[in-house]
Amino acid sequence: MINYRIDRNVAILSWNMTSSPMNVLNDDSIPAFEAALQRAYDDPEVKGIIITSEKNEFIAGADLKMILRNTDKDPAEMLKVSADLNRVFRAIETSGKPVVAAINGTALGGGYEACLACHHRIALDNPKAIIGLPEVTLGLLPGGGGTQRLPRMLGMEAALPLLLEGKRVSPKEARALGMIDDLAVSREELLEKAFAWINANPEPLQPWDERDRKTGRIVGKENVKVPGGAVQSPVGARVFSAGTAMVMEKTRGNYPAPLAILSCVYEGLQVNIDRALVIEARYFVKVATTKVAKGLIQTMFLGLNEVNKGISRPKNSPPTEVRKVGVLGAGMMGSGIAYAAAIAGIEAVLKDVTVEAAEKGKNYSRTVLQKNIERGKGTPEKAEAALSLIKTTADAEDLRGCDLIIEAVFENRELKAQVTQEAEPMLAEAGVFASNTSTLPISGLAQASAKPENFIGLHFFSPVDKMQLVEVIVGKQTSDYALAFALDFVKKIRKTPIVVNDSRGFYTSRVFTTYTSEGMALLKEGVNPVLIENAGKNAGFPVGPLAVSDEVSLDLICKISGQSIEDGALDETDTAYQVAGKLVALGRLGKKSKAGFYAYPEGEKKHIWPGLQEIFPLADSQPSVEEVKKRLLYRQVLETVRCFEEGVIRTQLDADIGSILAWGFPSYTGGALSFVDYVGIANFVSEADRLADAYGDRFRPTQTLREMAEKGKSRFEPTN
Ligand code: NAI
Repeated sequence: MINYRIDRNVAILSWNMTSSPMNVLNDDSIPAFEAALQRAYDDPEVKGIIITSEKNEFIAGADLKMILRNTDKDPAEMLKVSADLNRVFRAIETSGKPVVAAINGTALGGGYEACLACHHRIALDNPKAIIGLPEVTLGLLPGGGGTQRLPRMLGMEAALPLLLEGKRVSPKEARALGMIDDLAVSREELLEKAFAWINANPEPLQPWDERDRKTGRIVGKENVKVPGGAVQSPVGARVFSAGTAMVMEKTRGNYPAPLAILSCVYEGLQVNIDRALVIEARYFVKVATTKVAKGLIQTMFLGLNEVNKGISRPKNSPPTEVRKVGVLGAGMMGSGIAYAAAIAGIEAVLKDVTVEAAEKGKNYSRTVLQKNIERGKGTPEKAEAALSLIKTTADAEDLRGCDLIIEAVFENRELKAQVTQEAEPMLAEAGVFASNTSTLPISGLAQASAKPENFIGLHFFSPVDKMQLVEVIVGKQTSDYALAFALDFVKKIRKTPIVVNDSRGFYTSRVFTTYTSEGMALLKEGVNPVLIENAGKNAGFPVGPLAVSDEVSLDLICKISGQSIEDGALDETDTAYQVAGKLVALGRLGKKSKAGFYAYPEGEKKHIWPGLQEIFPLADSQPSVEEVKKRLLYRQVLETVRCFEEGVIRTQLDADIGSILAWGFPSYTGGALSFVDYVGIANFVSEADRLADAYGDRFRPTQTLREMAEKGKSRFEPTN
């Protein structure tokens, strides 16, 4: 697992784990690493140590499965993870021999913390490699000394953003920031530079260490000078208050890790490194055993990886490949879909009613590619190559031979039927036809198709170039082949799929609508709109329910609920229909008309429209923010549970990932179904009952929830 060789009196410890695709720190590799290091410390012939890897990456970090196994256990188990890392890393810097990290590729989390414990860091200048401490994004903090060594090395002002945002940078950027000391152009140079450094520095000391005069041992220094100023200096105080304010604004107190990182740095920098590491370990255990860390690791790391790898793909379907895709409609969505295909190297035929309209759609790609170049992403050559793959047309004949055609014309059943019948015959043999509809049931649209088994929904989100999720909708007749085909395509364009069964609004639109609708219900009851909006943001949503309704546009909300009323799924007492309808009747259509629940004065920040109070007078007594937050969250969770029970959503993972990526359901909960575990199943059911008694049966817990509460289960298992 860790190869050991001696070259010119230097021990080279080279990581090459066979039990996992990447080198990770876990119960097997940590003891092996420690043993290899000990061998080098003990060998009197060895005058220095180089740590490197034989894989493409250096060390990708701690094994998150190991962390997750321990989140549910006794905190003592978690403390052991941190204690093991600290013992190994602290020995590196106090053994008396020079140790150099020869960082040949990606070094993240615990992998980079190992580098921080080395006396010198040299990285291979590979633009694909990333370096950083991303723990915070998983609800954790660096528990292997990262919160202590980085600020002691760089100063707090430079270190805090890296720790609090979990920013990952290229080796070049890491060099510029001081996170590494040197760059090398080849693996050979990397090792040679490491040898040279060891030869020139036979007895190095970390800046936070000193040699004890009596014993000669290396120990932590008291009163270490922190670059840029100590914690209690005026600079330190300023950095800290700004950091805390930023964290509170961003997290609204929902994510414990950033505040714990600030405490680690604040408390740790006032004592010597050994005591500082104990402080860090205590905070590490505190955050690592929270439900927030569990949810983030489970959903946003391990879960997302599984979904991206294709966990939902029908097992026996042979691999498929889309080389040429047709996109019907070069509007907002169609142009984004053509862009996503082209940057993945797929030829895209973009068809609209006129070539000019199609060209306008292609210009969207031009603009996005240009902006990316300005931001240092991509080159003009790559942009040209992508653009050359987009062919604009008004002639259906140009679609001939497409493996996949995605329609993104206006949301109109008749028009969609017409374009399906026109374009479908142009498909290559065994080609698949997809609709990007956001509201029309797929099985109904498939009636226009000659091959409904090859008809599927591919629901992209706007703006397509930024939104990672695609909701793949399986109609009544959609075959496993078509599903596998669609999933292979989503993977090729590097997006994340969730698979849902056909239903009104599918999964994402259906549940998202309950957020806006509950916001409007609160308004109708006379709750202060400012309170409603703040509660939404405090709950962790990117925007309040009224602001997001304005963004969707109020006439569209009315139109969609109107359609449901026509179909008999809703009646005219529907809150959203009534509330949004009142504003639409006044010509307030939302953000697009610069008038909705909000007023949008030219050149000023938007604010709640004062006239709203006349339509929905404020009630005499106002609920607490907590109560409003609860209503907004529980309403969505209960609708998600119903989707799960009805089979619209198939797995807890799809529900969780979809909720976070589609409409910004707060990730600290682990997602819309994991929320139940976040608050505890028994608590969820009793609170939902209380809300139902107070505000209506939409909050009543379902049978599944009651059964789960009885058994004390908080995970949703598919029944079939
Ligand atoms: P859009 O109005 O921006 O674009 C529609 C385009 O279709 C127009 O360029 C129009 O000229 C073209 N078109 C009309 N008839 C055509 C025909 N016979 N052949 C070829 N092109 C034709 O609409 P948008 O927003 O791009 O939406 C398209 C579809 O995507 C709709 O079904 C919508 O519900 C769905 N959708 C929209 C989302 C959004 O955020 N706007 C999100 C997800 C799905």
